[in-house]
Amino acid sequence: MADEPLVLGIETSCDETGVGIVRGHTLLADAVASSVDDHARYGGVVPEIASRAHLEAMVPTIERALTQAGVAARDLDAVAVTAGPGLAGALLVGVSAAKAYAYALGKPLYGVNHLASHICVDQLEHGPLPEPTMALLVSGGHSSLLLAPDITTDVRPLGATIDDAAGEAFDKVARVLGLGFPGGPVIDRLAREGDPRAVRFPRGLTGPRDAPFDFSFSGLKTAVARWVENRRAAGEEVPVADVAASFQEAVTDVLTRKAIRACRSEGVDHLMIGGGVAANSRLRAMAEERCADAGITLRVPRPGLCTDNGAMVAALGAEMVARGRTPSALDLPADSSLPVTEPHVPAAHDHHHPHHGHGH
Ligand code: KG4
Ligand code: ZN
Repeated sequence: MADEPLVLGIETSCDETGVGIVRGHTLLADAVASSVDDHARYGGVVPEIASRAHLEAMVPTIERALTQAGVAARDLDAVAVTAGPGLAGALLVGVSAAKAYAYALGKPLYGVNHLASHICVDQLEHGPLPEPTMALLVSGGHSSLLLAPDITTDVRPLGATIDDAAGEAFDKVARVLGLGFPGGPVIDRLAREGDPRAVRFPRGLTGPRDAPFDFSFSGLKTAVARWVENRRAAGEEVPVADVAASFQEAVTDVLTRKAIRACRSEGVDHLMIGGGVAANSRLRAMAEERCADAGITLRVPRPGLCTDNGAMVAALGAEMVARGRTPSALDLPADSSLPVTEPHVPAAHDHHHPHHGHGH
């Protein structure tokens, strides 16, 4: 439909320079340039390297997306960009680029929330999100259960991790096992050859008196590290695939159990899973099985749209336009700790923007 908004989205919150173009709920282009190889030898994302890589990749990636979509920049209805949360310097590159394009083209600018974008991207795959949307958001920096009556204005946390994020746990366990960075994809691959019942690792915060919708993965990470250490100290070989599979089983067991409990408790008949960890094959399979048993419809974007990309930002931007939300001001700040409760950053004169967030 030609009357749906044509929106360009820019994502630079971590190590992926993502540029997406959508028309309403239709994905037209998804261009991603990753600096992950530049970080691998440091065992984690180095902010300065990420910022520099974004700067170098920005214009070529935008041009690639425009070519892929077969549209001209002047045809765009709006420019959307991740305003936060994320690495401050990395965000700044995307926000500056978005401002420049919006200003030069005379189009509205939408500074949007990275986390709400991870949810909204599913509209490109499975059509309009139900309202409210129940979402399990699992990435490198965040793990939350969110209830969103309106993804453009109203996102409510039901629970979140009290220590490590799910993706962070994958990355740390991969380091313990000497598997490199990022850990999620390697563990996912290796676990297929392992026995998920080889080691019974702890399921954090699953006791009857624990917060039902909060997560804790730090104890699990420590348990894996200790188990591996003991093996090595005894001079025994570490069954890496079994450990990877058993660790992955513990994470996905807790995530799916709590997500389904949240659906039941809120009377919601569907579950959306988003963020980099949603690319995990075991999480997808287990969620599929358990949701089917519980009579819950599962919505998970394809793996390439779960990890960071620009299409998700464009998707949320398009929703902002479609619902007539106020654009951001051209002095839009990058906010490394933008709270999950703020799907977008409207112009300052019509919105008080309190800072009560937690870090990335
Ligand atoms: O959403 P994302 O791309 O970036 C952030 O916003 O953090 O998520 C990155 C995280 C990393 O911790 C990475 O190890 C994890 O997602 N990840 C996975 C998989 N692919 C990426 N974790 C488990 N299994 C995967 N297949
Ligand atoms: Zn992300």
